[in-house]
Amino acid sequence: MQKQWEALQQECLSCQLCPLAQTRTQVVFGAGDPQAEVLIIGEAPGAREDELGEPFVGRAGKLLDDMLAMIGLNRKNIYISNSVKCRPPQNRDPLPAEKAACSGYLQRQMALMQPKIIVCLGRISAMELIRPDFKITQEHGQFYEKDGVQMMALYHPAALLRDPHKKPETFEDLKKLQAKIREICTHTKLEF
Ligand code: URA
Repeated sequence: MQKQWEALQQECLSCQLCPLAQTRTQVVFGAGDPQAEVLIIGEAPGAREDELGEPFVGRAGKLLDDMLAMIGLNRKNIYISNSVKCRPPQNRDPLPAEKAACSGYLQRQMALMQPKIIVCLGRISAMELIRPDFKITQEHGQFYEKDGVQMMALYHPAALLRDPHKKPETFEDLKKLQAKIREICTHTKLEF
């Protein structure tokens, strides 16, 4: 698995499949433990992520770290990536052609990792991974089984920064995630 993972990472880091290759500073492949049972998927890198080549390292990333820490998760016991691996200019939404060009990398990451739980951050990621008509305001925090994987969506941390009133609901969702980890994960060690 490790060799295939490294080969995939190398291929992704030099990707030229879409025009974002011309405007990016770095590809953001992902971070954490590729053997983790929990995979967290955001939308696309922002400015800070593009600079550093790491996912969720800006303001939203700091909040994500705090959210994860509440339930014993950190960047060592999960894996974090994005549906699109390069920053769209001015942080605009990724275009359908960019998402289509990039989706193979996430599909291959998922196939190699075989996570038990996938957590989508925000509507865009949930629409891609759970269902095209996913409604984040109604369906956040609910688990859906797809191809033997338990999938759920949380509000994107950037949305929580814009609207802190959503934080209590997200705390409830995080507790459901923690319960699901305790129920089905076999080697995820929650750390407090
Ligand atoms: N927002 C995302 O969706 N992903 C990142 O990596 C950073 C911010």
